[in-house]
Amino acid sequence: MPEFREEKIFDENDYKYFSKVFDFFTLDAIRTLEIRRVIKRALGVIKEGKESVIVLCEGPEGDYRILKIYKIETSDFKRMEDYIVGDARFKSVRKKKRDLVYLWCRKEFSNLKKAQKANVSAPAPHAFMKNLLVMDCVMDGDEIARPLDEIDREELENPEEFFWMVVDEMKKLYKKAKLVHADISEFNILKSNNKPVLIDFAQAVMLTHPMAERFLKRDVRNLIRFFKKEYRISVEEQEVLQYIKN
Ligand SMILES: Nc1ncnc2c1ncn2[C@@H]1O[C@H](COP(=O)(O)OP(=O)(O)OP(=O)(O)O)[C@@H](O)[C@H]1O
Ligand SMILES: [Mg+2]
Repeated sequence: MPEFREEKIFDENDYKYFSKVFDFFTLDAIRTLEIRRVIKRALGVIKEGKESVIVLCEGPEGDYRILKIYKIETSDFKRMEDYIVGDARFKSVRKKKRDLVYLWCRKEFSNLKKAQKANVSAPAPHAFMKNLLVMDCVMDGDEIARPLDEIDREELENPEEFFWMVVDEMKKLYKKAKLVHADISEFNILKSNNKPVLIDFAQAVMLTHPMAERFLKRDVRNLIRFFKKEYRISVEEQEVLQYIKN
């Protein structure tokens, strides 16, 4: 049992999230997910990203699951809000924003499903509802897996091998799932028992997307940049791109 468990059950510190993400719609949706046994219960907030709040949950089989709650009010919107809310012409803006976030959440679910079918190393998705997404919690032994940016250099046994394992996952995603992740970085690659697991798929696009090739190049560049900076590994962008596409 991971040691964070006792300390991470909802406590007074989590109340700051209540005003932010646990609004009526969200609490209602969490209840529905419990009734449908997608999760047994929420244990506590473990992370807050730009777009979401990440809640650790107990799964139906005593396993751990992650509930990703997309924030409806992002910072960008907050800025717009000052200009729009109160103007009678834009009464429906809040609703539109909500629908857009719901769509984003559904897109991450569908991308994760595609990745799963193609055997890409990514968390298995279980359900989505409104702005909530439930997926497997990626573990590293008994602990919750951490992204590469939180890992000490010594912890990667063989960085070069790890680099190519990430590239292999990007290749499966490209060739089999016909997707480009489009936000590959040290923040979205978890280390799980010395293997990479890709997360954060909402922005991933189909190869038919007009920007797909450009996003792939950017992903490869970001990956190379990180491994060069942290692990002194030098690889040619072209070599990696060729490898992914062939
Ligand atoms: N399935 C999972 N298993 C374990 N940890 C996870 C999982 N999903 C997310 N996390 C943790 O939560 C963090 C944020 O998740 P994610 O990147 O999906 O959200 P985000 O809101 O898009 O974040 P950001 O905007 O910062 O990229 C991850 O960096 C990771 O540490
Ligand atoms: Mg992320």
